[in-house]
Amino acid sequence: MPDSLQKDYTVIEDIIRSRARSSLPIMDSMITSLVRNGGKRIRPMILMAVFRGMSGKDSVLDTAYRSAATLELIHTATLIHDDLIDKSHTRRGVPTIFAQHGIPSAVLAGDYLFVEAYALAAGLPEKLVNTCVRSLRKMAEGQLLEEIIPPNELSFKTYLDIISSKTAVLFKSACESGALLAEAPDDVVRDLGQAGLSLGIAFQFIDDLLDVLGNEHITGKPIGTDFWAGKLSLPYFLYRETFGPLPNDRSQKTFQSILKKLTSDDIIVKGKEMALSNTNKAKELFNVLDNGEIRTYLQNMCDQMLNRIL
Ligand code: IPE
Ligand code: IPE
Ligand code: MG
Ligand code: MG
Ligand code: MG
Repeated sequence: MPDSLQKDYTVIEDIIRSRARSSLPIMDSMITSLVRNGGKRIRPMILMAVFRGMSGKDSVLDTAYRSAATLELIHTATLIHDDLIDKSHTRRGVPTIFAQHGIPSAVLAGDYLFVEAYALAAGLPEKLVNTCVRSLRKMAEGQLLEEIIPPNELSFKTYLDIISSKTAVLFKSACESGALLAEAPDDVVRDLGQAGLSLGIAFQFIDDLLDVLGNEHITGKPIGTDFWAGKLSLPYFLYRETFGPLPNDRSQKTFQSILKKLTSDDIIVKGKEMALSNTNKAKELFNVLDNGEIRTYLQNMCDQMLNRIL
């Protein structure tokens, strides 16, 4: 990571940690442990990289930090609710709030962190608030659609709409916010937003593949969560295309029985290619960034994302 971004990372980390607090000990302990237990901080770093890459001015640096921390708080709040929705027991290598404290606590801890995110967003310029608001609407809509469409009625196009909404719009928002803060021209803001969207789609493709292929010690999440939750994510679409219908029964035994095919080269190579075509789009669009060192950092981030699957 370039030195300037390393410094930014430390400042943003402090803001996130100081905002994810509560005067109620149990709330405080739930949210501080999630925030302190890692997390890649990809979204705030993308925002800062785009801001720095477009030669954003020092006079708006504090606003950029605030905006970056807001995105991370929004993301963290959605994770708390997501684990409840997906009935996931492990996140960032430790038990989820849902698993440890139950449904009411997970609903309320997620709500609490959303409120902290809004409080931080409240002082931001209107254009930035608007991009956050647009993403939050889409995220909730995407998560809902994923829940209510029965897997056998889900088309690949709708799946793409869902992952764009639930995941990629926040990446888009990170890129747009960085570009807006750096006072980039409208067409550049649009192109960088598109780069974020493509990157976000690739990110969810890879996350979906890691849900069958991952190593819990590295991802901090168990495999098979999408299968138990009845989700039709990327590897299952590719399975259907390659091997025919999926079993209806979503038990541990059935998962083990199809795991070999799910992790076969046929599926992984195809899935990775689909992610690659999206990271290539993002890399091309990132060429607009003025600062070469930061441009390389973001383009390397695209490659590293793919390399999470070797
Ligand atoms: C997980 O996001 C949720 C998805 C959109 C797939 P991350 O993989 O960025 O989670 P952390 O913040 O690093 O834990
Ligand atoms: C989550 O997608 C997207 C969010 C907006 C939180 P997943 O449900 O696949 O994320 P993980 O795998 O639990 O992190
Ligand atoms: Mg999940
Ligand atoms: Mg989910
Ligand atoms: Mg996942």
